[in-house]
Amino acid sequence: MSLPAIAVKSLVKTFGDTTVLHGIDLEIPQGQVSCLIGPSGSGKSTLLRCMAFLEEATSGTIAINGETLGFTENVRGVRERVPAAANRAIRAQIGMVFQQFNLWPHMTALGNVSEALKLVQKMNRKEAEELAMAQLVKVGLESRAGHYPSQLSGGQQQRVAIARALALKPKIMLFDEPTSSLDPELTGEVLNVMRDLAAEGMTMVVVSHEIGFAATVGQQITFLDHGKVQFSGPPQEVFKKPRNPRLEQFLDTYLDRGASMLM
Ligand SMILES: Nc1ncnc2c1ncn2[C@@H]1O[C@H](COP(=O)(O)OP(=O)(O)O)[C@@H](O)[C@H]1O
Ligand SMILES: [Mg+2]
Repeated sequence: MSLPAIAVKSLVKTFGDTTVLHGIDLEIPQGQVSCLIGPSGSGKSTLLRCMAFLEEATSGTIAINGETLGFTENVRGVRERVPAAANRAIRAQIGMVFQQFNLWPHMTALGNVSEALKLVQKMNRKEAEELAMAQLVKVGLESRAGHYPSQLSGGQQQRVAIARALALKPKIMLFDEPTSSLDPELTGEVLNVMRDLAAEGMTMVVVSHEIGFAATVGQQITFLDHGKVQFSGPPQEVFKKPRNPRLEQFLDTYLDRGASMLM
């Protein structure tokens, strides 16, 4: 077994008095697509944000390719902050795409992708724009490089956001409901870009209600409910009986039952 891309151990996250994640243990394998499903409010976004260190865990640890992110914890539970420079290097292995595309409205597609390279990687303009263009080609938006976000469809904007994350050469990509704010006819183009990325062997964690995508592209499906992992396993075990009763209820309530035909 190779080292997991992400190893989450006993992760607890509280906001004030509310515990949102109740001791999550989860391993994300290298080079696979892991899908995270679960009802609204179950803690999917919080878990993803902890993996990207956009949130600090309350207790427990997260290791990225074997290196502990944020805080180490000894056997007595004493936590110690990972030095900032080391932590930045670990975080840099992670790219994230959100439901809201968060593009800069005053910059073109090319500008949006190259800006991060100039800011984060201190590249000069020419270098940054070359690399940015290569990423736009990859997501099929070569001809839209000079367009501003307002001139692009939602699907195109999300593909720019994916290109922007990929330009920073992450080893792991996290997607939080990347198609949830898109009209149905635009989700396909985004899912296709994600499929291509999966085929290249990118390690991906995808929160999505697109059960067809999870069933066909996902290799590990994790069902989160009330801040706990209720089930984690290959798609065949999720979508075929025997099922975890809570998972079955979730699939009945939230998802298109037609998806089970895919398995
Ligand atoms: N910054 C925050 N402050 C307080 N509560 C939060 C915060 N972020 C999330 N929560 C709460 O944590 C729970 C899980 O939220 P979230 O991770 O967004 O769930 P999901 O993505 O599965 O819908 C929700 O009850 C939500 O209200
Ligand atoms: Mg969410």
